[in-house]
Amino acid sequence: MIQTEDLMKVYQMGDSDVRALDGASFTIEKGEMVAIMGPSGSGKSTLMSIIGCLDAPTSGKYILDGLSVENMDEAKLAETRGRKIGFVFQQFNLLARTSALENVMLPLTYAGVSGKERTDRAMKALERVGLSKRTHHAPNELSGGQQQRVAIARALVNEPAILLADEPTGALDSKTSVEIMDLFQKLHSENGQTVILVTHDSYVARHTNRIIKLSDGRIVLDEINPNPIKAGAPRVEA
Ligand SMILES: Nc1ncnc2c1ncn2[C@@H]1O[C@H](COP(=O)(O)OP(=O)(O)OP(=O)(O)O)[C@@H](O)[C@H]1O
Ligand SMILES: [Mg+2]
Repeated sequence: MIQTEDLMKVYQMGDSDVRALDGASFTIEKGEMVAIMGPSGSGKSTLMSIIGCLDAPTSGKYILDGLSVENMDEAKLAETRGRKIGFVFQQFNLLARTSALENVMLPLTYAGVSGKERTDRAMKALERVGLSKRTHHAPNELSGGQQQRVAIARALVNEPAILLADEPTGALDSKTSVEIMDLFQKLHSENGQTVILVTHDSYVARHTNRIIKLSDGRIVLDEINPNPIKAGAPRVEA
């Protein structure tokens, strides 16, 4: 479970302060699927970095599964991140000239897993994202949607409790975006994975169970979406 209270992130730029987060308080229960929306510069990526233990807030509280994150040092943040969080980015961030399988194995290598177990777990993650037939393709031999699936498999391979995705469909066409949302919904319903994603696209956001909107570093809307769109259903604009 994610609990924050009055999160602030202030960047000093010359003699002015940028309040990237200006008092965000919320709770996200284990197994929720949440979209974070808001204009450019409203603090979405800053919030994701803090939730993902990539960065510490300037002030405020962040409790992750009972652990106080706000006072952790770099080493402890890195350890918590490695155990609990999987990241997916807009630009996939895969290693070039490196096969899908090797890309997915990388977090296991860092975690000290080797040999057959490493290959087996990476293969299983690629199966879960529907890519078991593309394991030896390098990123430039895959479509955008397939590259994002590899990135999702890489994020899943350590079995993190929380999957964080910053504009995961931002570089994809609308049909492929829906396929990726279908995959997130599947992971969420099959494994009770907590999924938190940032999107500018309200159609993408409506595939989730809850929508949080930021403006100038503050939460201006936090609402349950009682009828999430099932990915694959015909697109109907609200
Ligand atoms: N490292 C940094 N140093 C200084 N200012 C920063 C830094 N990172 C972010 N900011 C500022 O904090 C604010 C929030 O940035 P953030 O990247 O969180 O926005 P965002 O909502 O993700 O925007 P976008 O939709 O464009 O990705 C912006 O005004 C940005 O300029
Ligand atoms: Mg951003």
